[in-house]
Amino acid sequence: MKALVLSGGKGTRLRPLTHTMAKQLVPVAGTPILGYVMNHISEAGIKEVGVIISPETGDEVKNYLGDGKRWNFSIEYILQEKPLGLAHAVFTAKEFLGADDFVMYLGDNLLSYGVKGAVERFLQERPDALIYLKEVDDPTRFGVAELDSSGNILRLIEKPKEPPSNLALVGVYIFSAHIHEAISKIKPSHRGELEITDAIQELINMGYTVKSEILEGWWLDTGKKDDLLEANTIVLDEYIKRSVKGNVDGASQLVGRVEIEEGATVKKSILRGPIKIGKGTKVENSFIGPYTSIGEGVTIRNSVIEHSVILNNSIVEGVDRLEDSLIGRNARVVKNNKKHKALRLMIGDDTVVEV
Ligand code: G1P
Repeated sequence: MKALVLSGGKGTRLRPLTHTMAKQLVPVAGTPILGYVMNHISEAGIKEVGVIISPETGDEVKNYLGDGKRWNFSIEYILQEKPLGLAHAVFTAKEFLGADDFVMYLGDNLLSYGVKGAVERFLQERPDALIYLKEVDDPTRFGVAELDSSGNILRLIEKPKEPPSNLALVGVYIFSAHIHEAISKIKPSHRGELEITDAIQELINMGYTVKSEILEGWWLDTGKKDDLLEANTIVLDEYIKRSVKGNVDGASQLVGRVEIEEGATVKKSILRGPIKIGKGTKVENSFIGPYTSIGEGVTIRNSVIEHSVILNNSIVEGVDRLEDSLIGRNARVVKNNKKHKALRLMIGDDTVVEV
């Protein structure tokens, strides 16, 4: 069993942030989403991993993942020149995949528990595809499955205008090598992409066995700001433990599960968990509320921040209330005007906001 991790694409739904960084590298609770994906693949005991990268963000992805040793597997990078779809990515990786079964994992998807159980089921039952499904509020944004009364798949459709159910295809799939045959038969969809959903439908048409499992735990497709903030909330809730490695002065108060990394300093501030503060970050005369992740080398002064993600080396100063916000790297949010209280922002890297 191999794994194919998709870490290309343009990330249009997370712009402006993704003008300058790969969407799969946006941190959730301080760890890039791709890191959680790799942990899951490693837990499943997979030793050979192919990573699809794009010309725009490939170097950044390579930089983060390296040779994969830290996850106990080897990585082969595969360049997909253009974002022509998930099935096209599999086609591009054909040589790497050979005749092997493989887990395909979309690098911007986060699952509460990994793929170990699904891999075991696949190896026991040996279908040609095993897919995960999850009930969602807005199925028009996803691939959708129609099941019969005993749970067998009748039909799969990509982003239907009139969804036959609210069961979305989660971005994790396990395939046998027959998927390549199915991919060779499909045509690009109306968005000009070779859809993996169409290829799985083609497997069914060809008489191969496709099985599904309804995912019990949470699943987050982190493609948009609100999804990303939700992911941050859930992951902080689940994983953060109280750990203070940085320096906190006597005039500050830490409440609940607060994680402060080495070299961070907290002065005259109240920090209410679950929150995470990265290395070398400075917090002064501020309140940092629950469900906030602050990256490394950030400066927060005279501000109130809640339910937000702030990336490395940014500055937030004088903001009475910053909430539900996603702030890029090296950004500056400085408030001088006292009139407007709460700010809700989504700003990219290297941005300056003065209000
Ligand atoms: C892709 C798949 C879709 C699936 C989704 C999960 O959508 O095409 O079937 O439900 O991932 O994240 P995309 O992110 O390409 O819009």
